[in-house]
Amino acid sequence: MKVQDPQISIRNLCVDYVTAAGDVRAVNNVSFDIGKGEVFGLAGESGCGKSTVAFSLMRLHKPPAFITGGEVMFEGRDLLKLNEQQVTDFRWKEMSMVFQSAMNALNPVLTMEEQFCDVIMRHTNMTREQAVRRAEGLLEIVDIHPSRLRDYPHQFSGGMRQRLVIAIALALNPKMIIMDEPTTALDVVVQREILQKIYALKEEFGFAILFITHDISLMVEFSDRIGIMYAGELIEVAPSKQILENPYHPYTEGLSNSFPPLLGPKTRLTGIPGNPLNLFEIPQGCRFQARCPKVHDQCKQGQNILTQVEPGRFSNCNLFNNK
Ligand SMILES: Nc1ncnc2c1ncn2[C@@H]1O[C@H](COP(=O)(O)OP(=O)(O)OP(=O)(O)O)[C@@H](O)[C@H]1O
Ligand SMILES: [Mg+2]
Repeated sequence: MKVQDPQISIRNLCVDYVTAAGDVRAVNNVSFDIGKGEVFGLAGESGCGKSTVAFSLMRLHKPPAFITGGEVMFEGRDLLKLNEQQVTDFRWKEMSMVFQSAMNALNPVLTMEEQFCDVIMRHTNMTREQAVRRAEGLLEIVDIHPSRLRDYPHQFSGGMRQRLVIAIALALNPKMIIMDEPTTALDVVVQREILQKIYALKEEFGFAILFITHDISLMVEFSDRIGIMYAGELIEVAPSKQILENPYHPYTEGLSNSFPPLLGPKTRLTGIPGNPLNLFEIPQGCRFQARCPKVHDQCKQGQNILTQVEPGRFSNCNLFNNK
């Protein structure tokens, strides 16, 4: 999981939801690094804990979610130890986020000028005039004419609104941006255009990205490395070009069979039989055992730990770890 020049190092992150029905560990001992300027994709089926990780890194998690363990090192500081004021200073400036429901993230009753100036002036010493100029520059960066700053969100198309949200995330030149399903609500052509734009901006400004999406083919195309989550755990990490071609976890193998290949002949998509794990019924051993086509006795004991299988490749499956 270690990279040479990490922007962020997440170690043994644990997040629990404390509910009337009992406590649920939604994120269990998750560890990974994202390098400076790297795009790290986080994938896995609905409910596996991707957004919970994202919100925890931004310290935006709210009860019933509680971070119950771990460390999130960002340039020498543990983000989990920052006090409220330090969090306010850190958030948006050092690390920003494009939310899963980005289409609704804009305030419908305020012009874009108000919304940009609010973010910029709250975190910098800029005057209103300077903030407006900065906002105009940001609109240009995402290919929207600066004169549109006086418009309200409903006056923009879905794709433009998405680009506005991205521009707000860029407003304070953060070193890292978390993008949780940034383009899900858009059609595939606009999706690709926006991701290409984000990628070009990343190349220009050098920020790191934590990229969350259900669309594995998009993720492979736009990420440097990918982490796969299953039932709250990170079960495989690999360079994106290798993960589907040569997976080191049967769940990843199942995922790769659920998506059509980008290149080559068409094959039958098999998907993954069975249902996601109920987090109230965590078994001993591997969390994927009930659905795993390669399950054996050893999978039902102890605890599976993400381990390096070969340089740059990590898996928590004991089939590969005991090779
Ligand atoms: N407020 C809550 N109270 C209790 N459990 C919650 C709450 N929010 C999320 N969870 C549980 O935490 C787990 C992880 O949810 P999370 O939203 O992080 O998943 P996700 O991977 O982002 O899913 P999706 O792909 O659907 O966005 C799920 O099992 C979910 O049921
Ligand atoms: Mg989510």
